[in-house]
Amino acid sequence: MLGYLFAYNIINRSSQAVPQNKLTPVTPALWSSRFVFIMAAVGSAVGLGNIWKFPYITGENGGGAFVLVYLVCIAIIGLPLMMSEVMLGRRGAKSPIGSMAVVAKAEGRSPHWVGVGIMATLAAFLILSFYSVIAGWTMPYIVSAVSGQFSGISAQSTGALFEDLLASPWQLLMWHSLFMGLTILVSAGGVRHGLENAVTKLMPALFVLLLILVGYAATTGHFGEAVSFLFKPNFSALTAESILVALGHAFFTLSLASGAMMAYGAYLPKNVSIARTAVVVGVMDTCVALLAGLAIFPIVFAHGLAAGEGPGLIFVTLPVAFGQMPGGSFFATLFFVLLLFAAWTSSISMLESLVSYLNEKGISRVTAAIGGGLAAWLVGITTLLSLNVWSDFTPLDMFARFEGKTLFDLYDYLTANIMMPVVALLIALFVGWKVNPEHSKAELGAWHKVWFPVIRYLSPIALLIVFYFNLK
Ligand code: PHE
Repeated sequence: MLGYLFAYNIINRSSQAVPQNKLTPVTPALWSSRFVFIMAAVGSAVGLGNIWKFPYITGENGGGAFVLVYLVCIAIIGLPLMMSEVMLGRRGAKSPIGSMAVVAKAEGRSPHWVGVGIMATLAAFLILSFYSVIAGWTMPYIVSAVSGQFSGISAQSTGALFEDLLASPWQLLMWHSLFMGLTILVSAGGVRHGLENAVTKLMPALFVLLLILVGYAATTGHFGEAVSFLFKPNFSALTAESILVALGHAFFTLSLASGAMMAYGAYLPKNVSIARTAVVVGVMDTCVALLAGLAIFPIVFAHGLAAGEGPGLIFVTLPVAFGQMPGGSFFATLFFVLLLFAAWTSSISMLESLVSYLNEKGISRVTAAIGGGLAAWLVGITTLLSLNVWSDFTPLDMFARFEGKTLFDLYDYLTANIMMPVVALLIALFVGWKVNPEHSKAELGAWHKVWFPVIRYLSPIALLIVFYFNLK
């Protein structure tokens, strides 16, 4: 997410020197350093996926074995794919759709490969629509934290508080609108100076705060139980579907198969090592998710809460912990502010796929950001309604796979478990089989030796196996 901010800064400064016609797409400027790119990519990767989604799907899918599959997916599919996407973005130097077109043409391949960019952009758009609703939840939690409402709160009361929030479409609409507004604001270029600074400080702050929470969780007397829940694999809890969920989440959490990393890759200077950078981003993202798990599950067990509680997990458990620790209101406020910020930097990167494409088509950045953001906001309203008035509306009940799924569940399933794995497979096939290995070698250097066989054989085979067992 942050990536764009920095890029915009640079673009904006240069556009003052050379006046641009409003309709001329701006040529992307480069990140000022590898560090800035890493911060931008980490900003995109670290978000609700790590702190909200990872713990709750781990709880729903039985813990250890699921975590292990997730880590394997990150290593053998996620990281090689991140390298591929950044590489495609840097070579194409355009929006994800534009870059796919440029590289397919340069390699003498079918122009239809551009469809991969289109599907990725569509996935990012759909994710943004519901991501904004969930990110909106952090805001009333900031208000409650500031007003000291969590002090001494019981698990029952936090549950009731969360249910009240979900039951109120107007409240949800207000926070969803506010969050989407913030996303559009940055994407359109409204926020400029000082953000690079803010981001490089806020991300580490979130990290430190998670460490403090883990420290607190260690005092609950249930830390060991949480560690074995997270790291002791019990394969009987694992189903074909949970493997698909782990795979989909590996893409979601690393911002892959959605154009975000391709869009940011377009701004990466040629002399930066793509592979090393991807490893750093992947490791940081994974650490944040595991820390979130270590902070949350001891509290879940200490208070007899259900690990499979679902999307409300962190909103029901963490306030209880904050309510009992010294300085709880302060830490709670800080936590939800940082979570909001992490979600914000991710949502900006989701919108970037579409905005950079529209921008290439001659639409100004401001118009593209407002138009794209508003469209995602509208779709998001169907998500927030599915949490209350439409909670019984499960339109695809005729298919066993989709039975009982609300619109929100369906968007989540469609993006993470179908669109992202399909985009990922196509990208792996494209870079593994359609791009001349000499060309990918020029981009990846010494790492090519390891990356190439993995992306050519291992990743597609692993993806096909997961598909096979899910469609069977
Ligand atoms: N990686 C982000 C998170 O974990 C979500 C995201 C998905 C961002 C796709 C960009 C693109 O919260």
